[in-house]
Amino acid sequence: MNLAIIGTGYVGLTTGTCFAEVGHNVVCIDNNEVKVESLRQGKMPIYEPDLEEMIVTNVSAGRLTFSTDLAAAVRDCEIIFIAVPTPPHDDGSVDLSYIEGVTREIASILTPEMGYRVVVDKSTVPVSTGAKVYKVIERYSHRGVDVDVVSNPEFLREGSAVADLLHPDRIVIGSDSQRAMDLMKRVYQPFNAPIVEVDLASAELIKHAANSFLALKISYINAVSAVCEKAGADVELVAMGIGMDKRISRHFLNAGLGYGGSCFPKDVKGFINVAEQLGAPMEILKEVERVNEAQLERFVGRVRKKLWVLRNKRIAVWGIAFKQNTDDVRESVAVKLIKRLCDEGAIVTAYDPKAAETGAAALQGYSVTICDDMYDCVQDAEVLIVATEWKQFAMANLVKVRERMRLPIIFDGRNIIHGENAVHAGIEYHSIGRKNLYPNK
Ligand code: UDX
Ligand code: UDX
Repeated sequence: MNLAIIGTGYVGLTTGTCFAEVGHNVVCIDNNEVKVESLRQGKMPIYEPDLEEMIVTNVSAGRLTFSTDLAAAVRDCEIIFIAVPTPPHDDGSVDLSYIEGVTREIASILTPEMGYRVVVDKSTVPVSTGAKVYKVIERYSHRGVDVDVVSNPEFLREGSAVADLLHPDRIVIGSDSQRAMDLMKRVYQPFNAPIVEVDLASAELIKHAANSFLALKISYINAVSAVCEKAGADVELVAMGIGMDKRISRHFLNAGLGYGGSCFPKDVKGFINVAEQLGAPMEILKEVERVNEAQLERFVGRVRKKLWVLRNKRIAVWGIAFKQNTDDVRESVAVKLIKRLCDEGAIVTAYDPKAAETGAAALQGYSVTICDDMYDCVQDAEVLIVATEWKQFAMANLVKVRERMRLPIIFDGRNIIHGENAVHAGIEYHSIGRKNLYPNK
């Protein structure tokens, strides 16, 4: 089938490439000409494992192209996916101006002669956005156009997006038109995944409710980690113990510095906001946000207490990306942490396997030194903080770390380093929700 994806970012590019991988003809559209040009030259605008080789394969197979020509895409493709940004306004409401703008553009191009078209909302949006998209198309397109609107939210996780898209737990399709539903089922037939067919509003709510629930799980275990620190218990053992109950599951119970990224923070805010507008406030999610903020505060407080004063202290931070296996630093807790430390006058060095460039851009104006080697980063440091759960940090040579540090102290914000190994290497080990470990004097 001929498919158009509008918005060639982390979501649109990965989604379009996976559609091509299963045999569809896909054109990825973007209004950023530089991005389209660099993709045409085989340059990757983002880091996502396995994506680059999949793009090369499908471009050379002639199933995947990149363009800025939205009109041609609407003319040639029966199904048009919208994957443009839906960033939060300051008040937490969702900025839908990109969605509205692209929809108006599509509407102005559509004509009855083109035949049936399905406009699919792939971006994460508040419930009832699909209905508004339909109204915009009715209002701005030529009379007699034959269009349906569908909600098809994505559940990809950055860093494992290709696997998540090719082997999804489920495909959610929301539409009030059986014709559109049938066409969408043909798109996803090659994925051999369960398809959840619901109405438009339910599909939009499934996305917000899913992301908010995952964020709630994270804040729950982070709140438990604070109790563990006071009680001298071990949050990893508690997470294991409760996670063995299939109704709870161990997933998304990793205590740490809190959640970040371009989705959870904005989707929790967006859900709080739309629920309030509907008169059914989701108070529980305000607590999810509060716990998330408090988690970083408490951690910085522990580091400050350890060093007495942060000003002029040399602090190394491993991790700048918002999570492992991505270069994405949007709403990264590691970036927030580095800014906090700089604001308090610490001398900060940082290292990230993939997010050095994106991190430098996000940290403009902050006097942090971004190193290209994880061990150089800890040279003469008085504390090493692990802020992102990269595997490299879990496998670090701690003797080498010990030899380079001024003071042998690690604060592991993601509980990924093995405490016993740290102590064995002569390093004082602090982590989240667990007892502090000290080397034998
Ligand atoms: C975005 C939203 O953040 C997410 O909530 C939604 O589910 C999917 O779209 P992401 O792909 O991470 O996710 O955004 P980003 O990486 O910023 O890519 C958006 C792309 O859309 C950019 O390449 C931008 O140039 C392009 N764009 C934006 C358009 O092509 N047209 C527009 O009008 C606006
Ligand atoms: C999330 C959802 O998982 C995905 O389904 C949705 O489509 C988009 O948003 P993403 O934000 O890419 O995906 O990454 P995810 O792996 O969910 O991590 C989000 C944040 O939570 C990261 O900052 C991560 O460090 C943190 N996290 C995750 C925890 O702190 N603890 C956990 O147990 C899991």
